[in-house]
Amino acid sequence: MAYYIINGGNRLEGSVTVSGAKNAALAIIPAAILAGESCRLENLPRIEDVNMLEHILLKIGASVESTADGGMRIDPRGISNYHVTFDMVSKMRASYYLLGALLGRYGHAEIALPGGCAIGQRPIDQHIKGLRALGAEVSIEHGIVKAKARELVGADIYLDMASVGATINIMLAAVAARGQTIISNAAKEPHVVDTANFLNMMGAQVKGAGTDIIRVNGGMRLHGCTYAIIPDQIEAGTYMIAAAATRGDVVLNNIIPTHLEAISAKLMESGVTVFEGDDGREFYMRVSCDNRPRAVNIKTLPYPGFPTDLQQPMMAMLAKADGNSYIVENIFESRFNHVSELQRMGANINVNGRTATVEGTKSLAGAPLYASDLRAGAALIVAALSADGRSEVHNVEYIDRGYEYLEEKLRALGADITRVEE
Ligand code: UD1
Repeated sequence: MAYYIINGGNRLEGSVTVSGAKNAALAIIPAAILAGESCRLENLPRIEDVNMLEHILLKIGASVESTADGGMRIDPRGISNYHVTFDMVSKMRASYYLLGALLGRYGHAEIALPGGCAIGQRPIDQHIKGLRALGAEVSIEHGIVKAKARELVGADIYLDMASVGATINIMLAAVAARGQTIISNAAKEPHVVDTANFLNMMGAQVKGAGTDIIRVNGGMRLHGCTYAIIPDQIEAGTYMIAAAATRGDVVLNNIIPTHLEAISAKLMESGVTVFEGDDGREFYMRVSCDNRPRAVNIKTLPYPGFPTDLQQPMMAMLAKADGNSYIVENIFESRFNHVSELQRMGANINVNGRTATVEGTKSLAGAPLYASDLRAGAALIVAALSADGRSEVHNVEYIDRGYEYLEEKLRALGADITRVEE
C-alpha cells in the first residue's frame, strides 16, 4: 500500500498540464467496442481506472495496444466473451458502460454490478429502464446484470434524473438500435458531449448532446477513427482549488475554459483571481491568490452547475476561508466522508443531512489522513498542501483511479510531496 507524505505550507507556483478526462475516457474506451475496426484514442489519462478497463477489454478478447504518445489503439474484432466478472469490475464504477456497448454490438452482455466510490447508493435503474425501452431483456441475478436482445429498436426514453451514466449507456446502445431514439432529461456534462462526438466520428448520428434532449439515429455501420479525449474538468478544478488554498499562482494548460465556468465563478466570488487566456495556440487559465479566500456557499448541481466531484476539494479550501460557508450536496447522499478527516486537522465543519456548515479557521494542522473515495482523497491532498506541518495521506489507490502523475505535477508546482510504497 502506498501513501503520500506532504509537508504543507508551500505556495503552489508554476504551470501544470491537465490530463485527458477520466470520465470521458471511461465511456469512450467501451464505446470503441461498437466500431467494426480499430480506434485510436489520444489525450488518454493513464490512471488506474483506465488500466482496469484495458485489462477488461483484453480479458474479453479485444486487442489493445499502447501508442507511443501514451494513447491506446483498440481493436474490438476479437471479442468473444460478453461476461465481465466481479473481480474485473470490483474497484470501478464505470464498467457499466460495457453493458450498453456489448449489448449494442453483440446483443448480449453480462456485467457484474459495479464497485467504485462509497458516496451513496448509486442505483442503475435508469440505465436498465433505457435498455429495456430499446427492446433488451434485462435481469439482475446474483449481482450480475444480464442484458440480451435479438434486435434493438429506437425508443423515446425519459430519464427521472439527468444521470450521466444512464445517458451515456443508453446512447451507446441506441447507436446500434434500428431507428430513432430520443433521450429526454439527458445529462449535459462535457463527457456526455465528448462521447457523442466520438460516436459521431465513428459514423454514428447523435444530435443534441449537451442539451436536455439527445436524438440518436441508430443502425449506422461504425468505422474506426482517431479521437482526442477532452481535458479533465475535475482534475483542472482540483489544481485551481489547490492553487487558491495554498495562496499560489498556477497556470493551467490543456483546458476548456467553458467547462470550468462554475469553478472559476466560485473561486472569484471567494476573492481568487482567475484569468482566462489564449496564447494563440491554446487556452490557458491562471489562478492566483494573495490573501485568505473568503467563505462562499456551494450547491452541487448537474452541469453546468457546480460539480459534485469538486465539492470535497472545495470544502478543504473553504475550511481555511474567512467566514462561514454552506455546502449543499444535491447529487449524492453521503458524499461527506472526508469531513471527519478535515476535522482531525482542526477544521470546524458541521454536517446536517446534505448540508455542511464550514466555519473557516486560520490554520489546519497536518495529520495522518485516510481517503475514503477518489475525490475525498483529492480533498485531503488540498488540505494537506495548505496545512501546517506533515500529513500522511493513506488509501492512495483511490486517488490513483483518477489523477495522472499527481506527485510529479504537484512537485513541479513546488509542493513537498513524496509517495512512499510500502
Ligand atoms: C458520473 C461520474 C461521477 C460524477 C457523477 C455526477 C463517471 C464515470 N462518473 O457518475 O464522477 O460524480 O456522474 O456528475 O462519469 N441515479 C439513480 N439511478 C440511476 C442513475 C443515477 O438514481 O440509474 C442517481 C445517482 O444515485 C445520483 C444521481 O442519479 O444520485 C446522479 O448520478 P449519475 O449522474 O448517474 O452519476 P454516475 O454516472 O454514477
